[in-house]
Amino acid sequence: MSTVAVLAGDGIGPEVTRAAVRVLRAVRPDVRCEEVEVGGAAMERGDPPLPARARHLCERSVAILFGAVGLPQYEGLPLEERPEHALFTLRHSFDLFANLRPVRVYPGLEPASNLKPAVIEGLDFIVVRELTSGIYFGQPKELRMTEGGEEAVDTMYYSAAQIERIARVAFALASSRRSRVTSVDKQNILATSGLWRRVVSDVARDYPNVALDHLLVDNASMQLIRRPKDFDIILTENMFGDILSDEAAMLTGSVGNLPSASLGTGISSGPVFGMYEPISGTAPDIAGRDIANPTAAILSAALLLRHSLADENGARRIENAVERSFAAGARTADLREQGAPSLTTTAFTDVVIDHLK
Ligand code: IPM
Ligand code: MG
Repeated sequence: MSTVAVLAGDGIGPEVTRAAVRVLRAVRPDVRCEEVEVGGAAMERGDPPLPARARHLCERSVAILFGAVGLPQYEGLPLEERPEHALFTLRHSFDLFANLRPVRVYPGLEPASNLKPAVIEGLDFIVVRELTSGIYFGQPKELRMTEGGEEAVDTMYYSAAQIERIARVAFALASSRRSRVTSVDKQNILATSGLWRRVVSDVARDYPNVALDHLLVDNASMQLIRRPKDFDIILTENMFGDILSDEAAMLTGSVGNLPSASLGTGISSGPVFGMYEPISGTAPDIAGRDIANPTAAILSAALLLRHSLADENGARRIENAVERSFAAGARTADLREQGAPSLTTTAFTDVVIDHLK
């Protein structure tokens, strides 16, 4: 029997993860879901952000279903003493370098976006974000005291090999879609971007059927709201991907809509280990009220079936159920039109489960 490690974490993490587990179990009752506390939830018991038992559970699981970590009371502390450290440790120790963030506007949800319906209708692209290098992990990374006062440094680092492996993921994905990769960098300023552009262009030669273009990140953030339907695969480094994917989420009406998969190998037709999580954070202001949008978590469960259990059929069943639930008018509070009623997290999940066929 396959075991999935369920790491719900903090804030809205537990309630949206509960929704995802309900949907997952409805589709695959044979999958065993084992839960363990991480992040602030673990720290409140005096444990580190990623306790050893959580790591061990992940090591013997086929995949990790992750909620969110981070609590306001830990803000300002060094990273090692913050709940977020759990996330970084998992990404890094399992070498989950390939972060896929599919962005879709589901039919009927157009009014939830701030953009005109004609601009976003039917848009469908994937942000492929490099997740284990760049300025998030480069050394040195520190706050230090000097004679001139306090200073801090972060280091943006990429090796050619790190760029090549994420580029291959992007091109392979594009080949199974509309065959277009847009690589985003800041080549006019950053040395890492110069290398990025050169390596990505080299990889492109192995995929003659895929069209490649390059955008500078400031321009990319503009094109994303100007002509989002033109994108198929957006390939970018760690921090640019973090920023652009929140912007992309708002095209769909809510940051609560976007799932993600973080894989340690490329895409494969067989199962690969991965971690699956909403791209949004813990939203402490609405936590515990059963009003959060569980879509991102539910769609993350679909990605888990696709990539870690090689169950394409199960993945589609969940995605179709979400699509039909939106088409039938189901909305959580973040997506509803003014004056219209909204569903609780639990009630929305009930609707999705009803639509599984
Ligand atoms: C994300 C999140 C994380 C990141 C935070 C929670 C550290 O924003 O997955 O996009 O910056 O990678
Ligand atoms: Mg982010």
